[in-house]
Amino acid sequence: MPCSMSSSFNCLVIFLYFASSVVCQVEEFVSIDCGGTRNYTDPSTGLAWISDLGLMSQGTSVQAENPNGNLMQYQSRREFPIDSKKYCYTLSTEERRRYLIRATFQYGSLKSEDTYPKFELYLDATQWSTVTIFNASRTYVNEMIIRASSGSVDVCICCATTGFPFISTLELRPLNLSMYATDFEDHFFLTVAARVNFGAPSIDVIRYPDDPYDRIWDSDLVKRQNYLVGVASGTQRINTSRDVNTNSREYPPVKVMQTAVVGTKGLLTYRLNLDGFPAYARAYAYFAEIEDLGADESRKFKLEQPSLGDSNSAVVNIAENANGDYTLYEPSYMNVSLEFVLSFSFKKTTDSTRGPLLNALEISKYVRIATKTDRQDLNVLNALRFMSAESLSVDEGDPCVPTHWDWVNCSSSTTPLRITKIDLSGKNVKGEIPLELNNMQELIELWLDGNYLTGPFPDISNLINLKILHLENNKLTGPLPSYLGSLPSLQELYIQNNSFSGEIPAGLLTGKITFNFEDNLRLHKGAQKQKHFKLIIGISVGVLAIVSILLIGSLLLLRNLQRRSSHQRSNEKGDSMRISTKPSTRHSISRMDEGIACYITLPDLEEATNNFSKKNWQRKLWISLLWEDERWKRGSS
Ligand SMILES: *[C@@H]1O[C@H](CO)[C@@H](O)[C@H](O)[C@H]1NC(C)=O
Ligand SMILES: *[C@@H]1O[C@H](CO)[C@@H](O)[C@H](O)[C@H]1NC(C)=O
Ligand SMILES: *[C@@H]1O[C@H](CO)[C@@H](O)[C@H](O)[C@H]1NC(C)=O
Ligand SMILES: *[C@@H]1O[C@H](CO)[C@@H](O)[C@H](O)[C@H]1NC(C)=O
Ligand SMILES: *[C@@H]1O[C@H](CO)[C@@H](O)[C@H](O)[C@H]1NC(C)=O
Ligand SMILES: *[C@@H]1O[C@H](CO)[C@@H](O)[C@H](O)[C@H]1NC(C)=O
Ligand SMILES: *[C@@H]1O[C@H](CO)[C@@H](O)[C@H](O)[C@H]1NC(C)=O
Repeated sequence: MPCSMSSSFNCLVIFLYFASSVVCQVEEFVSIDCGGTRNYTDPSTGLAWISDLGLMSQGTSVQAENPNGNLMQYQSRREFPIDSKKYCYTLSTEERRRYLIRATFQYGSLKSEDTYPKFELYLDATQWSTVTIFNASRTYVNEMIIRASSGSVDVCICCATTGFPFISTLELRPLNLSMYATDFEDHFFLTVAARVNFGAPSIDVIRYPDDPYDRIWDSDLVKRQNYLVGVASGTQRINTSRDVNTNSREYPPVKVMQTAVVGTKGLLTYRLNLDGFPAYARAYAYFAEIEDLGADESRKFKLEQPSLGDSNSAVVNIAENANGDYTLYEPSYMNVSLEFVLSFSFKKTTDSTRGPLLNALEISKYVRIATKTDRQDLNVLNALRFMSAESLSVDEGDPCVPTHWDWVNCSSSTTPLRITKIDLSGKNVKGEIPLELNNMQELIELWLDGNYLTGPFPDISNLINLKILHLENNKLTGPLPSYLGSLPSLQELYIQNNSFSGEIPAGLLTGKITFNFEDNLRLHKGAQKQKHFKLIIGISVGVLAIVSILLIGSLLLLRNLQRRSSHQRSNEKGDSMRISTKPSTRHSISRMDEGIACYITLPDLEEATNNFSKKNWQRKLWISLLWEDERWKRGSS
């Protein structure tokens, strides 16, 4: 920390100094002590920390054993269950503004029965980092720079592979204007891989209030495996107390720019590991001439880093590039491919009298922003979950990624992701179905049965993919919309035990849709009655015709019998013919079946004529009639 307890007076002075210029940012800082039980002001920074009690209802607060240092934030952590769910903090943001978001993890010390946790950190739907704890007293810091795409952002913990997933702190820091703007920010976040203050006076980090944006600048004195190794001999640490003008894009803190390393033998070399690499990165170097060079002296050097290609040849002359001493020069590489092991060196040019100088370095990895669930779909889900008396998907972030809420299903093929199924059967949902439901065009199944829903039948006229709709056992009222029968995909509609009224749309009664509408006392098949009336007339006419044909047939049969008795002797031929007529007869029957089927659908027939159980009789009649007729024709020819 830049300030210890003993120097808190100094801190206060610094704080007051900065307070005038950065009061806006500080007021907007959100600092959450996860697992903490009270709100407090950190004496070392003057920043207000809040407990996450009102922000996170899941997980438990766990006291850290032997926390490292005496910082309040690390006295406890919030631990989550080991399950397939994700647990999310929702932070308010201003759309299109850039933010630094920081999550830190310090386990405390490990009890003998504990295993080191390993789990995933997500920002919205985007996989941010795999958090792997190796050292219980180390503070693992994850920083992400984003441009907010909406009014909030979710930071989620999930998918533990070992140990209990947890979090210690969560911080949101708004950035100023175009700081950290990139050409790719619509599609990529920037996760900070290294931010190093060279020539630092101690191993302490520099952050707020020295850095008004509260970035964490690591000291180059920290000793860690594969962190700033391979330092060239002749490397010297320099510092100045003079002010440095840092008015450039990224506004690094003056304190960071007041120290540097110099390669007195003409060379600066470093090597460090970059977590999450190889990857495409944004790389920034921060230079300011903080030595007073004589009139005949010069400091010119070149970066030597094979992966930077052409840039190798660019000669840095800090004072010239920055237009003066004690002024920041900030070259950056917008998009550069870097390996896991980053080796770089700065080498003095032959005509330079002084060796290379470096004040600070920052490297951030591009992380492609993953597709989120459609905002309109999410709005409906949120409306529904607030209507439920049960705690549905509390603190669970995006409904679809990386795991979906247990009461929805999602399409994975669309951008953005869409909801295909909502299952809220018997989930204590009260109130009117949100109108916006009609925007969920990819919805295939909707189960809202067994709740306390009131109001009219929801507008679902746009839900052309909806196959299954269950609204039974609710308190819905009013008429059924007329388009219901012609929704293109609807296969199953259950509305029984509601208070719907009016006429049932004709299309629902064709038998194409499984439709259950019992126990809706004021719902009737108005239009159907007329149809049935016509049907009955039709059938009566049909029956009349049948009777007439029957009569004629009987007459013909009689005649046939008379004729046959006179041809009885030539019988053998007649028998074989009778067999051969069978297929033809069958054909007639099947044609007849089709005729009946397309004329009068079976349910209609049954409904219209309760005691018209003569269907079989009628069919048999036709069969024997045709058969006899055929036989007669063959026989007589
Ligand atoms: C934010 O940007 C404005 C405009 O460049 C500048 O005047 C102001 O000082 C900046 N704020 C901070 C805290 O750097
Ligand atoms: C802490 O501060 C937050 C935000 O100001 C507030 O909502 C919450 O009630 C406070 N909690 C306690 C325990 O005072
Ligand atoms: C664990 O981390 C602490 C704090 O960063 C450090 O002092 C200690 O040396 C580390 N232990 C190991 C074994 O790396
Ligand atoms: C600054 O540099 C001088 C030597 O040039 C050294 O004595 C002093 O300790 C340094 N101060 C810091 C804060 O590094
Ligand atoms: C960086 O460059 C590579 C290669 O040209 C390209 O594939 C990538 O999309 C660029 N941008 C980012 C943010 O990675
Ligand atoms: C979601 O879809 C998957 C695969 O189609 C299925 O196995 C799962 O049961 C579905 N879940 C729900 C809640 O419908
Ligand atoms: C009808 O629906 C109500 C809820 O609206 C439910 O309490 C009741 O049990 C249902 N009745 C039947 C017979 O299912």
